[in-house]
Amino acid sequence: MTKNNQPTKKHLLKTGEKLLFIVAGAFIILAGIAFGIMQYEMSTRDKPIFEQHTHFDLTETGKRGSQIYRRQACSECHRAMAEGTNMGNSLDGIGSRRSVTWLENFLLEPEKTYGDVTMDHGKSPKQAYYVALLPKQDIHDLAVFLSELRSDQGSSSSPVPPKGESPFIDSMVKTWAPNTWKEKYTDIRDKKASSEGVK
Ligand code: HEC
Repeated sequence: MTKNNQPTKKHLLKTGEKLLFIVAGAFIILAGIAFGIMQYEMSTRDKPIFEQHTHFDLTETGKRGSQIYRRQACSECHRAMAEGTNMGNSLDGIGSRRSVTWLENFLLEPEKTYGDVTMDHGKSPKQAYYVALLPKQDIHDLAVFLSELRSDQGSSSSPVPPKGESPFIDSMVKTWAPNTWKEKYTDIRDKKASSEGVK
């Protein structure tokens, strides 16, 4: 009892508040269960859940490069061969976009090769400064390894669009590409696919 003889009020939740808690709680529990199921599926299936559009077939040098890649903790920032993080860019399929020479040049002289300011590769105190200081042989093996990570034609990591006619791409180009671009640029589909767009 309080001074003025009123019974003390307990702070009970209103119906709306209770509902909100129940709904939020249910979401969290469901998300937890779904995550558990997904992890279980991923570890027990022999095929990956998502379709793979990148592939690799490593030569001896490529294998040496992949060991250096692991030892040098590149995967702390990069994703490749289904491992690593997304802090830096994904390196799966990079060999379809960049040549061994470009990759080697980039690892040695990142900013010069990019022609622009970089975030992590470059000189100390940038976080990945150590990469450019690795022995030349290691850099070469790394570049060969990366150049062997290829992407399927038409996948999101490939510079070359899917094979054959695509009414969807035609309609997107027609809708979004200004007419002036037609004189300025060549449609990549009209270029020979043999070069695969590797720089
Ligand atoms: C601290 C994070 C970090 C680490 C460690 C790191 N990278 Fe990177 N990497 C990046 C970022 C960010 C970029 C984009 C360029 C930039 O801003 O530095 C990049 C770009 C690249 C590129 C160019 C990709 C492209 O097509 O533009 C290559 C190749 C590469 N890294 C390879 C490596 C290798 C090999 C290692 C290990 C020896 C490594 N990186 C370690 C963060 C990192």
